[in-house]
Amino acid sequence: MNQEKIGNFISENRKKLNMTQEELAEKMNVSKNAVSKWERGLNLPDASIMEDLCKILNITLNELFKGEYKNLEIKNLYKVYQTKTEKIIAVDNATYKFESGCFYAIMGHSGSGKSTLLNILGTLDKQTSGEYLINGENISNYDDVVLSAIRMRGIGFIFQNYSLDPNLKSFENVMLPMYINNAIKKENRKTRAIKLLEYVNMGDRINHYPKELSGGEQQRVAIARALANDPRVIIADEPTGNLDEKNEEIIFSILKKLSQMDKCVIVVSHNENILKYADKVLYMKNGKLGVYSEE
Ligand SMILES: Nc1ncnc2c1ncn2[C@@H]1O[C@H](COP(=O)(O)OP(=O)(O)OP(=O)(O)O)[C@@H](O)[C@H]1O
Ligand SMILES: [Mg+2]
Repeated sequence: MNQEKIGNFISENRKKLNMTQEELAEKMNVSKNAVSKWERGLNLPDASIMEDLCKILNITLNELFKGEYKNLEIKNLYKVYQTKTEKIIAVDNATYKFESGCFYAIMGHSGSGKSTLLNILGTLDKQTSGEYLINGENISNYDDVVLSAIRMRGIGFIFQNYSLDPNLKSFENVMLPMYINNAIKKENRKTRAIKLLEYVNMGDRINHYPKELSGGEQQRVAIARALANDPRVIIADEPTGNLDEKNEEIIFSILKKLSQMDKCVIVVSHNENILKYADKVLYMKNGKLGVYSEE
């Protein structure tokens, strides 16, 4: 993510191929000065040529963006929906810094803006105004190719309705994000999927289809899938909304363990049981984000 790191990575891989800056520039149809600027971290390659660059250097977008997502910071963030009849301020001047290694609970009434905020943090949606920085870098103006690379590599999503593909077995569902983003080598994917399923205690259900699993089991498969590319950030929107208390405890404790492995875990929930697990509790009220407690 860090521009300088990306530059070094480009330079290293160019040299590995015994290619000069001129040769790379020629292949990319850009000036040598442009290549030199990338490698010194003064400029990022334009998103439209990012994929070509990866092909030439024999690297993946994910490798290029592999970074330590240590924090997510929002500053004076607004999301405004303008309908025909009214203006809805779904996120109203939110400022906060989310750090890795921490389990955040975000609570609040229906319609208070929780999902809207999560979608922006997950780069699925863009704010109307204000800043969003990942590791101190403003990503607000990045275009979709770069954002999707950041998202695919760095962020795992968990939803209330599990969102599993009904036609795929558990291990195939977990493998899916690995195909989309090529971070994990082909020959290692199945083994990794099985390991992740074992991690969420689903090792004896790897060949089951979603309809053959309980809700709690489906959500555990969805957590394994969210971990497919080893993201630093886990974002979960009401992950236990459809589950009973016992399954809720199981899901929250897995998410807790992940936060203890230095991931940044952000969970929206209506359920007060989450308070036992959360390191920090935030709330949303009419679009405003606040902090309940520091414990
Ligand atoms: N695409 C949209 N167009 C217009 N208004 C929207 C849109 N999406 C959300 N809203 C409005 O923004 C506000 C916040 O919605 P959001 O989904 O973030 O709430 P929430 O806190 O997640 O609620 P819930 O707990 O019910 O999931 C609501 O008033 C909602 O009606
Ligand atoms: Mg919601």
